[in-house]
Amino acid sequence: MKKLFTATILITSIMSFSSAAEKYDTKAFRTITKLCTPCHGTPFYMAKQSDDDDWKFYFKTKGKLLSIHKGEPKAIGTLKSSLFKKREKRILKFFVNNSKYSGKVHGCDANFCGTHH
Ligand code: HEC
Repeated sequence: MKKLFTATILITSIMSFSSAAEKYDTKAFRTITKLCTPCHGTPFYMAKQSDDDDWKFYFKTKGKLLSIHKGEPKAIGTLKSSLFKKREKRILKFFVNNSKYSGKVHGCDANFCGTHH
């Protein structure tokens, strides 16, 4: 009986570990806030505008993001910045993880609170 109890505690704590690991990438979040939010709204709001396939399409199709923003010199500037290039993979991952059908809804934390955009 005692063994079972210990096992239950162990399993519960492992499960809470894995849900903590599901927290979003705050570095990607901050980078998006800096580069894209002025035009696109908060990172979570932005992520929800497309599904995972669309996000991959935008990021993986060569020159796609640049051609979408042709008429937006400011956006071109951010897309060509070294910060964007350095974090591009993490940013895509963030968008995919929080995309339209991901089912993720974020509560309040130090970076983000609600859906204001
Ligand atoms: C200066 C403003 C501006 C900035 C900064 C900007 N965008 Fe955009 N973006 C736009 C506009 C305007 C459109 C719509 C273009 C259209 O529909 O013709 C757009 C469209 C898009 C689209 C196509 C889907 C959609 O919503 O229409 C994607 C994907 C996108 N932007 C990603 C990004 C990412 C990622 C960043 C940050 C690295 C970023 N944008 C920064 C202005 C901006």
